[in-house]
Amino acid sequence: MSGNNHHVRPTRLKTFLYGADYYPEQWDADTRKDDLRRMREAGFNCVRMGEFAWANVEPERGRYDFSLFDEQIELLGASGIRTVLGTPTAAPPAWLTTEHPEVLRVDADGHTMVHGSRQHACYSSPLFRKRAAAVVGELASHYRDNRSVIGWQIDNEYFCHFRECYCENCHLGFRRFLEARYRNIEALNSAWGTAFWSQRYSSFDQIELPMAARPTHPNPAHMLDYGLFLNAELVHFQHEQVALLRKANPDWWITHNFVLREMDFLSLTDDLDFAGFDYYPMFEEPANRAARGAAALDKVRSFSGNFLVPELQSGPGGQGDFRHDEPDPGQMRLFAYHAVARGADGILHFRFRTARSGAEQSWAGIIGPDNRPGARFEESCREGGEFARLGPLILGTSLSPETGILLDYGMTELSHRPITLGLPSPVRCGEIIHRTFYEAGYSVGYVNPQDSFASFKLLVLPCWPIVGQDLLERLTNYVQLGGTLLVTARSGIKDEHGNLLGETPPGPLASLSGVRVAYAARVNNAEYAPNEFALGPEDEARRARTPASMIPRVPQSMWIECLAPLGDDADVLGRWTEPPVAGQPACTLNRVGVGKVIYVGTFPDERNLKPLLYPLAGEASLVPLVSHPTRGIEVSVRSGEAGRFIFVLNHTPNELLQRGLPGGELLIGRHGGNVRQTGAGAMELSLPGYDVAVIRVDPAS
Ligand code: GAL
Ligand code: ZN
Repeated sequence: MSGNNHHVRPTRLKTFLYGADYYPEQWDADTRKDDLRRMREAGFNCVRMGEFAWANVEPERGRYDFSLFDEQIELLGASGIRTVLGTPTAAPPAWLTTEHPEVLRVDADGHTMVHGSRQHACYSSPLFRKRAAAVVGELASHYRDNRSVIGWQIDNEYFCHFRECYCENCHLGFRRFLEARYRNIEALNSAWGTAFWSQRYSSFDQIELPMAARPTHPNPAHMLDYGLFLNAELVHFQHEQVALLRKANPDWWITHNFVLREMDFLSLTDDLDFAGFDYYPMFEEPANRAARGAAALDKVRSFSGNFLVPELQSGPGGQGDFRHDEPDPGQMRLFAYHAVARGADGILHFRFRTARSGAEQSWAGIIGPDNRPGARFEESCREGGEFARLGPLILGTSLSPETGILLDYGMTELSHRPITLGLPSPVRCGEIIHRTFYEAGYSVGYVNPQDSFASFKLLVLPCWPIVGQDLLERLTNYVQLGGTLLVTARSGIKDEHGNLLGETPPGPLASLSGVRVAYAARVNNAEYAPNEFALGPEDEARRARTPASMIPRVPQSMWIECLAPLGDDADVLGRWTEPPVAGQPACTLNRVGVGKVIYVGTFPDERNLKPLLYPLAGEASLVPLVSHPTRGIEVSVRSGEAGRFIFVLNHTPNELLQRGLPGGELLIGRHGGNVRQTGAGAMELSLPGYDVAVIRVDPAS
């Protein structure tokens, strides 16, 4: 689905989906019948099935058997529960890999994967793609008229266990990819700068897959192109399946359950109806859980707008040598609301019942392996009841945060990887910035570089190495029309091959930001070379009158740039305090049109963002979501024609009070003594540990 406003789009779902992931192939017929009763009780309207069932639906090459799924889909459908089917290609059957071991992935050490776990076949293998297309084609034509099948998930969690592959198919595929990209070998030599270390090629057939430490660092441009090749193969792999499904039934919606690894999310989600994101917050430490979860959900929303959660943590996960903490009572429901508060239009719990066999027999479902419904089942019944009321109201609403952080897991992130210098990547810098705004109670989200920036008051380019002509034009336009752009160190330094530009940094951004980087240095030992800049008036007299406590002091992080304003374009907002750069500009503000560009000559970290936050918020006129945010409480807003929906989530185990919320109708939340209208259209809420509230504010008010 194309469009330049991905981040603010609702899904095309007509019903808010609620249910679980279900594996009929793992249970006997009586159990399956009995499961229906409980699914109804929990208020399910949807289950996802089939994503690992290749060996069931095609037990031998070319022999298909859909009877189990036919029966299950019908049973569910008769109870009003619709089915999302997964294409089963993440778990190819043993007959395929024994007949054709050449479909197997190979790791960097030359080890060939084996049948017995999953994701062991390579997306680049023509034979694998052929067999995948065959089974997906059969599934598509078998279910095309089945009204209970409403949508599809392609494959399962791309790149979850594996990204790089060194099989022969990848090797040959990579050469073909380069040939198509560069046409002639001299163009490649020039793009990769192969004059370095005698790397010159005279034919595409000489090119190997790049390998780190064999014996030392490969050419970064070679690595970048290999990353782009892997992305392109994945986009093709997905597209073949999407095309088969769309042809069979154009009414089906199609998604994928993404994990956040380097891939070309924009191309992938443009071929889908909306993204899916598997949300497993228990992988995070308690202190990071809410903030990291919020960032992950916001990232996913930037790809294609509102999304589905095809898998939501429903108890402790356990595999191999780890087992998560047991979520506290109420925490699973909180996770579900967290996803919804930040853009989910449907929630499926992973999984309905814990498996009794296989590698995930300790991965909790909402019902345990003993099949006794317990507290988690009760909690899911509560969610089911609440989402049945809330769902229809919030479908069609979306989030529109004031701050947008640029995000690109494609070329931008890939260009950082081969040569990090021990510095955080653009994605990582964005995460640090996200967290600071999130914890201070500001609305914040992410945006694709290709999308419209118009809805943001503050736009952040987090240490963004590659700025092409198109991005530059759109940034300039954004600023000219009144936006505030924040640029951090080492932006605008590379070309699209990951090579350094001949221009002085920030290269293409120089005229927009009104500065040139006159000096740049990595700081490895901050204890020996402390440095900071003080933000405040340049004017000596005014400075003397400003109390020292009012002048935020901003410490450097890992890197120092001294900025030279071009002409008298940019105002200096802060100067480094210590030698060898004492007195040199560290932070500047340039006015362009009716907007501004703030350049900060260091990397963002927790220490320097705190003092920068309020001055930045002031420059961009940001308004916090509530005037006095309570630590541990998250507030977020979804709005649309049906009104504004204020989600208030208590991420802590303790009862907390949140003041200054807009007054409205309490749709979800404990009625009684915990809500107080506090005059002038405001209200306060006291929320028990892990509890949530949703307030509806009339669009007119
Ligand atoms: C996801 C995956 C599921 C299951 C789950 C729990 O990564 O999609 O199939 O493995 O994690 O481990
Ligand atoms: Zn491969």
